[in-house]
Amino acid sequence: MELSGVPETLLGNLGRRAAAARAGVLDDPLAIRVVDRLDYDFTDTTRGARLHALRVATFDMAVRRFLISHPAGTVVALGEGLETQFWRVDNGQVRWLTVDVPETIELRRLLLPDGPRRSSHCGSALDLEWVASLNPADKVLVTAQGLLPYFQRDQVYTLIAALAERLPGSLLVFDVVPVAMLNVVRRGSGRERDLAVELWSWLFDPDERATIRAIPGVDELRDLAPPLSLGVASLGIAAITRLPIGLRYLLPVISILQARFRTVSANESGMQASSQGARMTPLKESRQSTLPVLRESRCATRLERDRRNLPIGGCLRPGSWLARIPLPVGRARPDAVRDPEVHEHPRDREQ
Ligand SMILES: C[S@@+](CC[C@H](N)C(=O)[O-])C[C@H]1O[C@@H](n2cnc3c(N)ncnc32)[C@H](O)[C@@H]1O
Repeated sequence: MELSGVPETLLGNLGRRAAAARAGVLDDPLAIRVVDRLDYDFTDTTRGARLHALRVATFDMAVRRFLISHPAGTVVALGEGLETQFWRVDNGQVRWLTVDVPETIELRRLLLPDGPRRSSHCGSALDLEWVASLNPADKVLVTAQGLLPYFQRDQVYTLIAALAERLPGSLLVFDVVPVAMLNVVRRGSGRERDLAVELWSWLFDPDERATIRAIPGVDELRDLAPPLSLGVASLGIAAITRLPIGLRYLLPVISILQARFRTVSANESGMQASSQGARMTPLKESRQSTLPVLRESRCATRLERDRRNLPIGGCLRPGSWLARIPLPVGRARPDAVRDPEVHEHPRDREQ
């Protein structure tokens, strides 16, 4: 099996995690085992492994924090590639949904098969069909590690707006590439450099941050720092996250942000359902002009199979009916717990 385009980029991240694990800065023996099973030259990916480990630790910390509030919550990992985060953060109760494109899911299922609390959805993160496999009562954290920079700006906005609308009260943790980072990468060489220069599309700056913050339903947007216990580099990155927004993204550093989507009260949710029929329209139909839909979703997830009684290996028809099942938009999530450690910095609100 050969990977190309954006799916090929998962190998670099996997290689860096394995290198970080070998160096003892990331507890991820499974990443090493996966690398050892692949016929690919990972030599180049050892560069930057320690910095990458900080990024990974930041995502892990966000997931662990979410699981403290919601031990049986659901993590949806968009564009998860061959990430082994489930095994790093598993608390014995979390449910996990991986969403990735067919060629990647095929490889992932060979190397990291689905399990009792882990399922995979084969299809684009952008088509939102995966939302149908979530239980409306689930507490949800969505991650997009190394994914959004490959999308067009409008795709990012549409995806975030759709998540805010379909998953009120949930969190989205994602990383962003500032223009300065692309400029540094451009000066490098090698396959990873070529892929980044060719494929990075959505670059981040203060205006992009303001636009994301203004998307309806985005209640809070915060830069996350790695655990400070990870040494001088983590202190440096933490300091960058406290810089004024105008300076923060001038540095060639990949930032990680967390968006919290507004929780809709039971009252509001009732009013919306009765007075805003349009908001109940399934997203795929209401945003057809802007949401690119992957029409070849070949494989149903285990969760979908369980809920819809589909046969194992069953296929979703192009333009699947699953996406047309309306979810209760703006449903009540009165018990959503605010994470005391993840407040928006007052300075961020002002700018
Ligand atoms: C840079 S890799 C990141 C992989 C993983 N998150 C990590 O950090 O190791 C990008 C991932 O996005 C996936 N991808 C590309 N387009 C996608 C889409 N439209 N929907 C979901 N995943 C996508 C690729 O298959 C690949 O797994």
